[in-house]
Amino acid sequence: MFTPTDTPFTRWFDALEARHLATLTFPEVRRALEALSAVYVQRRDRLQAGADLESAGKRAAFALFYGPLHFLVADHVVRGLDIPATAPTGVLDLGCGTGVVGLAASLACGGVPFEGVDRNRWAIGEARWNAEAFGVPAKTRPGDLLRARPAAGNTLVTLGWAVNELDDDERDALSARVEEWRRGGASVLVIEPIARRMSPWWDEWAGFFRALGGRADEWKFTPRLPERLALMDRAAGLDHRELKARTLHLPALPR
Ligand SMILES: C[S@@+](CC[C@H](N)C(=O)[O-])C[C@H]1O[C@@H](n2cnc3c(N)ncnc32)[C@H](O)[C@@H]1O
Repeated sequence: MFTPTDTPFTRWFDALEARHLATLTFPEVRRALEALSAVYVQRRDRLQAGADLESAGKRAAFALFYGPLHFLVADHVVRGLDIPATAPTGVLDLGCGTGVVGLAASLACGGVPFEGVDRNRWAIGEARWNAEAFGVPAKTRPGDLLRARPAAGNTLVTLGWAVNELDDDERDALSARVEEWRRGGASVLVIEPIARRMSPWWDEWAGFFRALGGRADEWKFTPRLPERLALMDRAAGLDHRELKARTLHLPALPR
């Protein structure tokens, strides 16, 4: 029987957990999650060097913990912004990591094709596995997000928790790309943490999106977390009972 506790999301989470706990124990993933969270919060200078994905434990924590949380946030904001009503024909997820943001967007929009680009090859492999687990048609490739190009037409470009990993020059280059993509028919969704210290450039980017006809929003909601995810959250001394994010959305230009 299909109940709220038996959904594509919960089935995917169960499969993901079985995949990662086949080689690591719960306490090993918990310790790695603590170390990974410290990199995100206190050692952001180490992100460019790949410190977030440098060990098997951190990779598992990224895939198994932050992946589902980012999926839930992306699903919430894509629906909240009514993006499915704009009928995107595909999703290009840049800095896709394990693909969760683009896959959530694709599924909310009826399972449209997903393309994921990330500089990290391990993450690309995970994105492919996740797309297959959700039954979404997917293309994934390693690469620099600044060099990616959406297919012509109504493509939704997603950048989830990735813009804050760029330096100032890369972010300036990205703003030029955003305008190019839009002229080619794409729409753009940026999701970032709510903490301002992670994205001190936020106000400037919000002004840039608004000037082009876009919007900036903040989100806060109480998700239904899988029990084991909630357990891992508490065990690692974190608290994701409420999820928060901020977004920038630029709809496609009218045709
Ligand atoms: C915090 S993770 C977020 C991943 C995924 N979007 C999510 O929400 O779970 C940021 C990702 O951006 C990728 N990334 C950072 N800079 C990049 C660049 N210049 N080109 C491609 N990927 C990049 C990293 O490898 C990492 O996988």
